[in-house]
Amino acid sequence: MNLQKDIKIYSPKEIDGIRKAGHLARDVLNYIAPFVKEGVSTLELNDLCDSYTRKHGATSAPLEVSGYKHAICTTLNDEICHGVPHAKRMLEDGDILNIDITVNLNGFYGDTSRMFKIGNISNQAEKLIRSTYKAMMEAIKIVAPGQPFSLIGKTIEKIVAPYNYGIIRDFCGHGIGTMFHGSPHIFHFYHKAYDKVIMQEGMIFTIEPMINASPNFDYFINKKDGWTVATADGALSAQFEHTVLVTKNGHEILT
Ligand code: MF3
Ligand code: CO
Ligand code: CO
Repeated sequence: MNLQKDIKIYSPKEIDGIRKAGHLARDVLNYIAPFVKEGVSTLELNDLCDSYTRKHGATSAPLEVSGYKHAICTTLNDEICHGVPHAKRMLEDGDILNIDITVNLNGFYGDTSRMFKIGNISNQAEKLIRSTYKAMMEAIKIVAPGQPFSLIGKTIEKIVAPYNYGIIRDFCGHGIGTMFHGSPHIFHFYHKAYDKVIMQEGMIFTIEPMINASPNFDYFINKKDGWTVATADGALSAQFEHTVLVTKNGHEILT
């Protein structure tokens, strides 16, 4: 295993296909936004996203993940990621929800997620969402040829440090493109081994920090559904995700 050499460099033609997939994933989030309201179930949101995706000639990539039976992830409140949609879980006033969409369009993948606020949310939730978005965007800003991958996590740590938030360590961003999850791991905290792994034009990966409203990063996985990851201490957690391409002079957000 070689951290640097394992990272795929995509051709202009592949980039074109991945960009189209990324744009479709973004379009799914824009499409679902007006449906995200009190009273709707997370399974209804799942089904709407899946039909929109199919109507646009693609499939929902989570269905390709062994053991995962749904098209999207719907991650609520103290949940961190991989929230399983459920017919009986209706959205309620005060909920915060992450919807994570990955599409497969002609063998190319685009992966993106954002937070939705249902009704009136707490000031604490508001602040957490705002800082998590800022952490992702500031990390994206440093993406350019020649930059070390470790700068992503370093940048995120700097943004969240004043708030005493916890950065999830065991779930990472990832290379993506002609596969859903590939090299490299994208750590959202400083990871020394990635000081010497360098971004190059044509690399594509996700940045998707999961941030807890407490200094902890312990979690547990829901025993009933086998997937939903939630904070051990019950703290709120937020996440945003973009798929990012390294370009000649910087980067392009593909989602
Ligand atoms: N979209 C998630 C990610 O950002 C992965 C979901 S895999 C699933 O990498 F199986 F949980 F759907
Ligand atoms: Co991802
Ligand atoms: Co995702």
